[in-house]
This record gives sequence, C-alpha cells and structure tokens, in this order.
Amino acid sequence: MASKPETHTRIVRMKRLERGVLDYLLREAGEQDPRPNAGFFKDPKNVLLVAYTDGQLSGFLWAHILDSPHTPDPKVLLYSIDVLGPFRRRGIATRLIRYLKEIARTCGCRGMFVPTSKSNLAAVALYQTTGGIAKNDDDVVFVYEQEALST
Ligand SMILES: CC(C)(COP(=O)(O)OP(=O)(O)OC[C@H]1O[C@@H](n2cnc3c(N)ncnc32)[C@H](O)[C@@H]1OP(=O)(O)O)[C@@H](O)C(=O)NCCC(=O)NCCS
Repeated sequence: MASKPETHTRIVRMKRLERGVLDYLLREAGEQDPRPNAGFFKDPKNVLLVAYTDGQLSGFLWAHILDSPHTPDPKVLLYSIDVLGPFRRRGIATRLIRYLKEIARTCGCRGMFVPTSKSNLAAVALYQTTGGIAKNDDDVVFVYEQEALST
C-alpha cells in the first residue's frame, strides 16, 4: 500500500493583511473576484490561519471568536476552511483545526462550532475526526441575502 508523502507543514496566524498571500489562497479556493480586506485583521477576534507545506501555501481557515450576552466565555465560529487540491489528505486541515483549538483554549472559549452540509463527506469526516459532534440532526442554516436586509 502506498504511504502518504513525507511533508512538513507550518501553520501561521496572519496578523495583518498579506494581500498577495490571501489573494492567491482565495482564488485557489474558487473565489472569482477576491477583495482582501485589511479591516479583518484590526479585530483580534478575527482569526486567519495559513498553512505552508514544504514552503508552499497549502491551505487556510478563518474563524471568529464570538461573545455572548449570557456568559463571559466566548465560542469560536469556524467560518471557512480550505486545503488546496494537491495537498489534501495529508493532515493539513487537521493541523489548522488543532491550531484553532489552541487559540480557543487560550481565549477561554467554551467550544467551537462549524456549519457544513451532510453531502460534503470530506468536511463531515474532518470535523468528526477532529472531535466535532453533529448534535442536532434537524439543524439548518438560513441565509438572509442582501436584498432581504431591506424587507
Ligand atoms: C475538507 C477539507 C478541508 C479537508 O482537508 P484535508 O487537509 O484533506 O483533511 P485532512 O487530511 O486533515 O483529513 C482528516 C481526516 O478527515 C477525513 N477526510 C478528509 N478528506 C476526506 C475525503 N475526501 N473523503 C473522506 N474522508 C476525508 C479523513 O478521515 C481524514 O483522515 P485520514 O486521511 O487519516 O483518513 C478539504 O477536502 C477541502 O478543502 N475541501 C474543499 C473545501 C471544503 O469543503 N471546506 C469545508 C467547508 S464546510
């Protein structure tokens, strides 16, 4: 049986906009017309993690540390995670999530959550193997598009 290639992956938290890096990652993840946003990095509750594998950009995630009115302990919303095609199944997303968990612990968070689709088998398997639980089978995400904001 073929073994997985030996690689070295480094995870870095981007602290200020590195436009070229983010533009590249967003395009590789399928964003047609990315407009990297420097404002994201002004709030320490916004997290962007970048993975470099053998020196090459290989993946990224972004997340938000969310405050709640009923408890001082925040939660992390893992909003988006992508590993570039050639780098998949080498544990890179797992490393990104592990790093995010470290941030969550450091910030005194009481948990993390991530929305996905049941049909996204890779994402479902990733979240399960990293300790996530799909707690409510009937959960659904509603989106209010921009037009709906004015009705
Ligand atoms: C989902 C995604 C981020 C996983 O990244 P990855 O770096 O390949 O994941 P890992 O190598 O850390 O995989 C960890 C485990 O998740 C599971 N897994 C990952 N990809 C899988 C796949 N295609 N099919 C089945 N299981 C998969 C496996 O259990 C894997 O462990 P193993 O390789 O030892 O069997 C990647 O496939 C991706 O970028 N997909 C497109 C974007 C996307 O759908 N993002 C999630 C949106 S909610």
